[in-house]
Amino acid sequence: MTSSPFNMEHQWLPFTPNRSFKKDPRVFVAADGMYFTTHDGKQVLDGISSLWCVAAGHNRKPINEAIKKQLDTLDYATAFQASNDQAFKASEMIAAMAPGDLNKVLFCNSGSEAADTSLKVALAYHRARGQGHRNVFIGRERGYHGVGFGGMSVGGIPANRKVYGSAFLPRVDHMRFIHDPVHNAYINGVEPEWQEDILLELENRILPLHDPSNIAAVMVEPVAGSAGWYLPPKGYLKRLREICDRHGILLIFDEVITGFGRMGCNFAADYYGVVPDMLNFAKCVTNGVIPLGGVICSDRIYDSMMKANADAPDHAVEFFHGYTYSGHPVACAAAIATLNLYRQENLFERAGQMGQVLGNAMHGGLKGLPHVIGIRSLGLAGAVELSPIEGAPGKRAYDIFLACFHKGVLVRPAGECLVLAPPYIVKTAEIEQMVATLAEVIMQQA
Ligand SMILES: Cc1ncc(COP(=O)(O)O)c(C=O)c1O
Repeated sequence: MTSSPFNMEHQWLPFTPNRSFKKDPRVFVAADGMYFTTHDGKQVLDGISSLWCVAAGHNRKPINEAIKKQLDTLDYATAFQASNDQAFKASEMIAAMAPGDLNKVLFCNSGSEAADTSLKVALAYHRARGQGHRNVFIGRERGYHGVGFGGMSVGGIPANRKVYGSAFLPRVDHMRFIHDPVHNAYINGVEPEWQEDILLELENRILPLHDPSNIAAVMVEPVAGSAGWYLPPKGYLKRLREICDRHGILLIFDEVITGFGRMGCNFAADYYGVVPDMLNFAKCVTNGVIPLGGVICSDRIYDSMMKANADAPDHAVEFFHGYTYSGHPVACAAAIATLNLYRQENLFERAGQMGQVLGNAMHGGLKGLPHVIGIRSLGLAGAVELSPIEGAPGKRAYDIFLACFHKGVLVRPAGECLVLAPPYIVKTAEIEQMVATLAEVIMQQA
């Protein structure tokens, strides 16, 4: 057991094997730029923007200063029946960045809350229009929408669902997954092409089964992030949009990972040229520094909800939902500073450029290594997929993650995949170091 100066008896670590962690703790005590410092004084290169959050790198002064200033000006204000100046400014900036008529921001604190908020908006919207029977949600196998009961029900990662089945939302179905390991195992910076029309299943089986008139919304991650960076087939999201439109179904993009630059543009919606009815965000909106999430809704949704209440008395609330910390002034001040910083440093453009460097490095450095069965890269993220160890699903990737950490590089295990999604400030030499470390460990553990 590694000695540690911490009493580790009281923190129950999330999504972490707690027992083995205590034998080999990984504890960060500082961070700057691309690097963490651990409690035992090691430097660790951040290959995953911490948890897909820290796009501008760590310890960015403009964000820190904005937070400090806000703390001294307005530390907190009730979110209900009143608001604050920072929340209005942040929502204006976010709406200006969002495509199409996505103009109305409902703030929350995390991606999980964004998922559940968007599902509730869908139900409320349909009901406001006299279509309360629309209460079926469609997700996708291996989708991740956080850990609330709504997002978990619509999500499709088996391990996350396994023990909670009794509490799932009752009317949810799932489309099939978007990966073809035979024809599209290796994808570098392009959209995978499929021979088959993968959405026929939605049209011919799922929609008729529930009847399209009962379906409230389809929620997908444009790129399946947590599952291991799986890319949608070419034309998939456009066709999904058309199918939803044909049947009056709302389309929700969960852009908690893809939002704010990961694809080299504002949102994956821009990358794929498809405007959803709602867009969920979190993580990079504040560079991960302070929790903030939200749902950007279309004008149409907002206007319908207001219109439905046109004859209601002035004190009537139109949407019974919100959080104590919705639009928290300090989080919104962090968001304003973060979004300004992204723009000033052209970081989204840089993410697109460095994405090509990452894709080339991963394909050049990892393809052909033992157990490697696929590599997918697009935007500034990539995953290498390894064949599972029989009887020990996830072990190979987890062991590789551990070994990389000990060699000073933070990568992310996701099922049988290892993911790299560095901050947008990453340099070519740092990408090379990440890939070389992964390659060395994959070889050692072969
Ligand atoms: C697409 C997606 N949705 C929702 C979430 C949940 O976000 P949070 O952990 O902030 O609740 C995540 C987290 O990784 C995510 O990737």
